[in-house]
Amino acid sequence: MGSNPRVVGWYYNNFCLPGLGLGGATYKAPVLVSTNQVKQQKHSSSSFATPFSSFSLSFSGAGGGAGFRRAVVVMASSGLKTSNYLRHVESLKSFPSGAGNIPQLNAVILGEALASEETDRVYPSEDFTRQALVPSPEKYLEMYKRSIEDPAGFWADIASQFYWKQKWDQEVCSENLDIRKGNIKIEWFKGGITNICYNCVDRNIEAGLGDKIAIYWEGNELGVDGTLTYSQLLHQVCQLANYLKDIGVKKGDAVIIYLPMLMELPIAMLACARIGAVHSIVFAGFSAESLSQRIMDCKPKAVITCNAVMRGPKVIQLKDIVDAALADCAKNGISVDVCLTYDNQSAMTRENTKWQEGRDIWWQDVIPKYPTTCEIEWVDAEDPLFLLYTSGSTGKPKGVLHTTGGYMVYTATTFKYAFDYKPSDVYWCTADCGWITGHSYVTYGPLLNGAAVVVFEGAPNYPDSGRCWDIVDKYKVTIFYTAPTLVRSLMREGDQYVTRYSRKSLRVLGSVGEPINPSAWRLLALLFSPLMQEWFYNVVGDARCPISDTWWQTETGGFMITPLPGAWPQKPGSATFPFFGVQPVIVDEKGVELEGECSGYLCVKSSWPGAFRTLYGDHERYETTYFKPFAGYYFTGDGCRRDKDGYHWLTGRVDDVINVSGHRIGTAEVESALVSHPQCAEAAVVGIEHEVKGQGIYAFVTLVDGVPYSKELRKSLILTVRKQIGAFAAPDKIHWAPGLPKTRSGKIMRRILRKIASRQLDELGDTSTLADPGIVDQLIALADS
Ligand code: WTA
Repeated sequence: MGSNPRVVGWYYNNFCLPGLGLGGATYKAPVLVSTNQVKQQKHSSSSFATPFSSFSLSFSGAGGGAGFRRAVVVMASSGLKTSNYLRHVESLKSFPSGAGNIPQLNAVILGEALASEETDRVYPSEDFTRQALVPSPEKYLEMYKRSIEDPAGFWADIASQFYWKQKWDQEVCSENLDIRKGNIKIEWFKGGITNICYNCVDRNIEAGLGDKIAIYWEGNELGVDGTLTYSQLLHQVCQLANYLKDIGVKKGDAVIIYLPMLMELPIAMLACARIGAVHSIVFAGFSAESLSQRIMDCKPKAVITCNAVMRGPKVIQLKDIVDAALADCAKNGISVDVCLTYDNQSAMTRENTKWQEGRDIWWQDVIPKYPTTCEIEWVDAEDPLFLLYTSGSTGKPKGVLHTTGGYMVYTATTFKYAFDYKPSDVYWCTADCGWITGHSYVTYGPLLNGAAVVVFEGAPNYPDSGRCWDIVDKYKVTIFYTAPTLVRSLMREGDQYVTRYSRKSLRVLGSVGEPINPSAWRLLALLFSPLMQEWFYNVVGDARCPISDTWWQTETGGFMITPLPGAWPQKPGSATFPFFGVQPVIVDEKGVELEGECSGYLCVKSSWPGAFRTLYGDHERYETTYFKPFAGYYFTGDGCRRDKDGYHWLTGRVDDVINVSGHRIGTAEVESALVSHPQCAEAAVVGIEHEVKGQGIYAFVTLVDGVPYSKELRKSLILTVRKQIGAFAAPDKIHWAPGLPKTRSGKIMRRILRKIASRQLDELGDTSTLADPGIVDQLIALADS
């Protein structure tokens, strides 16, 4: 079987991206294909009779050898209900800590090779598509086309679904993104009067959601939890807002928030927004030095913190850090009058908390005394909502400033479509509110949609590595949004932590922050989608969880390039196509827009509502960093490849590009290749100076638990890269790494790796924000092994 030309699936022909040439774009509808066509499409594929008489398996691709295997499963006829699907599944046999073996498949595919990733497509299931908000490429194209041709109409229609005290002026959007024509300016809904807190909370209550859970809070310790309905949330927000007003915080004043993932964190954000204050959250993993730098920059009226927090088994004394930061600020002539401190009793007692009378106030002593209603401070759409400091190429952090109206409309809309949000969903984003992901997709985006949100205080590996799936089962999480790094680190611990839980509730997965290599993508799909295995074993059901690989930035406010699950087939590792209203362009070094299949610098043409409006106090740096490199465009700082089908593949920051003998190699590409090696758990690649090649490739490699370092393995890793990318991309050095230096949010600190790689050990800089600072010494010790 399998060789008969019958219809078994569908794929897109000439799927040309609208943003890459609207008007002239060719777009052909999905076509049904036969197994024969599939086989022609897939290089060197072949078909087998399988232990399941109802399948034909078509193997694809060249290269490979050892490594994990993949088969394209074409479900064909034989009375199967789901005969029109084309699915990809993988064997996890040789993969570290995978979801468990699928023995029958392993047996069949042994000896087969890896496919070229670009030709790989994973299709949404029919069931998913049927219920999706955007169920087809046609629907997407129709909406996308309108968002580009008539952005004002498109966004005004969406904005009208929110509450505006007063409608915006005539012009929905006014912008200048071309530095040659004057100062950069972006304005959306100017003159519109609204309030994002009102839209997140009061509006939902008025719509009848008062008793719906807004926040499920899960504490660090098992069994410590809490909930807030929308009405309860409103009360708490109002009490804090009243207090802030009482101590003199006014519209436009800054408030620094330095809190862990307690419910009080989103409450504090919303309270600031309610009174028109500008919150600036500093991730509660930053050192006192970083905190004081931010306090000195924005000169807040108050700092909101807590005495301490438990992160797994560790106590972190946040108040001590704040004290040190405030002392440092005072030395520099900046004083903060109020330090509102939440008494986090599970982590520390009041008696042990250092206290400065007059300045420090216990949250629990004052906030409950305030009224549970609070007048809204109505603000202009272009009034600032928050500042969020992010790192740039220089040492000074950039205060990314977002305003109210456009950000509100954009985060709500991106959340809704990228996760295919339905009112019955329970949504969990593992990000901390200290990062943009937590702003847009823990607090604002979901609450604007009236969603139920899980907020988790603890660490994903505490009390053991099954904690995330425990939480998923406990709250019946349906949408799970996380970073690839978290998945990879948990997978190292073994599948028993995963398979112990059902995870059945999940229906959409999201990933953010770094290019997710195809192997991690598939592992995510398998691990999180028990139904996928069930389907395999029982020949029912589907891969029910599409993955939204969302590409965006602190600066963009919301998703820019992202799958809309249900709308089109995905290619694992690709962020796919632009969100509504976003026009990504890829330019060469000279700023010339490239057409069709290409690789270059990722820019964005025209503004979108969620765009940041300036860098706080430094509009010039804003213009220089983002709008001068390629006049006429917003420059993202990322490299991007667009394949022949118009899919976007983020290749990493362009500052992480290595130029080896004139070949540009994305560190992410090399990492992806290394990680596909069955014994490699994680890899980070940096460039080092090389006498002959200009730059050489230096790879830090973390092995799967229990695998010993060896010369043979080093060779085999290099061989894997040579095979997957080419000889020019072979790492010059493999540095064994028991772990990688990561921030607590999971970002690898490449700055430190570069210094270790180039043996500039006296220039390692601040390592205090690392999740495990001890890793640096271990890496140094292993440098010449
Ligand atoms: C990277 C996080 C590949 C990218 C929301 C970007 C990604 C930077 C993805 C922004 C993705 C984010 N695929 N790379 N899906 N998402 N990035 O400001 O390099 O912390 O420029 O915002 O993360 O990081 P930021």
